[in-house]
Amino acid sequence: GFDIAPMLKTTGNVTYDPGFMNTAATKSEITYIDGDAGILRYRGYPIEQLAQKSSFLETSYLLIYGELPTTAELEAFDEKIRRHTLLHEELKGFFGGFPREAHPMPVLSSAVSALSTWYQDSLDPFDEEQVELSTIRLLAKMPVIAAYAHKKSVGQALLYPDNSHNLVENFMRLTFGIAAEPYDMDPDLVKALDLLLILHADHEQNCSTATVRLVGSSNANMFASVSAGINALFGPAHGGANEAVLKMLRHIQSEGISPEEYMEKVKRKEDGVRLMGFGHRVYKNYDPRAKLIKETAHEILGKLGGNDELLDIAMRLEEKALADDYFIERKLYPNVDFYTGLIYKAMGFPEQMFTVLFAIGRLPGWIAQWREMMTDPKLKIGRPRQLYVGHAERTYPGL
Ligand code: ACO
Repeated sequence: GFDIAPMLKTTGNVTYDPGFMNTAATKSEITYIDGDAGILRYRGYPIEQLAQKSSFLETSYLLIYGELPTTAELEAFDEKIRRHTLLHEELKGFFGGFPREAHPMPVLSSAVSALSTWYQDSLDPFDEEQVELSTIRLLAKMPVIAAYAHKKSVGQALLYPDNSHNLVENFMRLTFGIAAEPYDMDPDLVKALDLLLILHADHEQNCSTATVRLVGSSNANMFASVSAGINALFGPAHGGANEAVLKMLRHIQSEGISPEEYMEKVKRKEDGVRLMGFGHRVYKNYDPRAKLIKETAHEILGKLGGNDELLDIAMRLEEKALADDYFIERKLYPNVDFYTGLIYKAMGFPEQMFTVLFAIGRLPGWIAQWREMMTDPKLKIGRPRQLYVGHAERTYPGL
């Protein structure tokens, strides 16, 4: 509501675009989204095809290096990651410094930031060898750090990674395995988690990725930039929505409200309630990731006998919403978060870990975008402008 004309006189011709609704901050070859058509592609490959055929490891390679790997390239990549899973013993001491009840997200961002102190050969973002080594170290160590953050919060011993396992298997074992007891790996769960990680692996210039780029644009190294991205993802408006969906479903269940009654509350905007897991800034159609996740939700909950009642409530809400004028007019469809919380819960992850799982999934995207920016010969430091709306010049009292 303010008059920007006087400001334009003093600040020059700038674009005022809060929330970056219309401003492209970069060109990118990595991820394509058509929000109206519900299309998502990594490096040109439709997300549905990657979900069907690829693995999280292969998708990570694709995002970072631009092409699908050959069998030999994928094996070499896998092998390198397996060899870098160990954390420095001193770094493990770091976990003891946090309160037991600490949320795992700030623990994760702190430990990732601290990698710069143990790996001084990561500080030059223009040294190709360093960048490659940091890429492998991050992919290998971040799931281990995440699992340790969880272990500390439940007071259990940290396990050593077992490099006969791949990245996702290792993460499951380090999270759920108990020292001195064999861990019974469930291949269906590993497959489901692998799929969820693929679906989260990149999403062009979302808040955390834009943060990684902005921090990296000052020539900060990969660990510092990714640590900032983790902090951006920590916010409930970005990474925390899957937790909010679960809370909403539980609320509906415990209050004995019918999904229909809840929908009426949402439509009346009573107390600002929204149908969590619905709507998206970019997708004005069914989020293609939500479609794929819905199938997995049925399979996993069917197998594990998760909370079917909550799944039923979710499905009835979805069915009602898709047929309701309020949602149709506003183009509100289920987003990626609508079913993920239910799946993670059924797998046994505590709710605080949901956003951490998002971070592990998003990591290859952050790395790919950071690397793309760093190799751009026209790289410029990110520095938004502003419209100054404060006081005009005034005099310090007594002068
Ligand atoms: N339930 C009910 N109404 C909604 C919802 C919803 N989930 N989402 C949007 N609306 C309504 C708004 O009230 C508004 O209606 P109005 O025009 O009558 O005021 C209209 O739809 C447009 O909403 P905006 O908030 O302007 O849309 P925006 O693009 O800014 O917001 C957002 C997108 C934040 C995702 C929103 O849809 C929302 O709050 N959804 C619920 C939270 C959620 O699921 N977040 C996860 C996003 S995905 C991710 O981060 C991975």
